[in-house]
Amino acid sequence: MNKMRLAVVCDAMRKKDLSEVLVIESLSFAEPWTEEMFVHELNSERIARSLVARADEGAGERVVGFLCAWIVSGELHINNLAVHPGYRGRGVASRLLDEILVRAYANAVTVGYLEVRESNAAASKLYKAYGFRPIGRRRNYYEHPREDAIVMRRQPL
Ligand SMILES: CC(C)(COP(=O)(O)OP(=O)(O)OC[C@H]1O[C@@H](n2cnc3c(N)ncnc32)[C@H](O)[C@@H]1OP(=O)(O)O)[C@@H](O)C(=O)NCCC(=O)NCCS
Repeated sequence: MNKMRLAVVCDAMRKKDLSEVLVIESLSFAEPWTEEMFVHELNSERIARSLVARADEGAGERVVGFLCAWIVSGELHINNLAVHPGYRGRGVASRLLDEILVRAYANAVTVGYLEVRESNAAASKLYKAYGFRPIGRRRNYYEHPREDAIVMRRQPL
């Protein structure tokens, strides 16, 4: 695998990004969000912050990853994060997390929450590296396969 960091620009997700976002979503999850769910996020401007990471390796710009979060009541909730399988391990998710944290700080957020499948070692390691710690478990939260969610918190943010 090419372990070199990928240069990306993180930007607000737009409707025209959705075709690329939906491909990454379906390659990444057994129960992918639907287009309607992403559109709902894009239309929820008061609390939703959805970002894409764009890369241009010479063949034109493409979306290589995205993050969907809410910033509400002084809290950051990370609801979705995925990187295209062809671009993983090159720092893209880290860049997206850095960017959402900047936006959270700008909104005086003091605590961050997320949920992760218990067996998702890559995501758990990523979130731990970002200071998120397990604080609880939601039993049978996921389907296909059925599995618990581990609730993680970063406080102070
Ligand atoms: C989890 C995911 C978003 C990580 O994206 P990524 O761009 O590859 O992550 P990064 O390159 O920024 O990795 C940052 C850190 O995360 C951890 N990490 C990432 N992938 C890992 C893997 N396969 N195994 C172990 N640790 C991993 C490492 O600590 C890594 O730091 P390092 O590069 O110094 O070792 C990506 O694997 C993905 O899209 N998975 C499918 C969807 C998913 O599980 N989303 C999270 C839902 S909660």
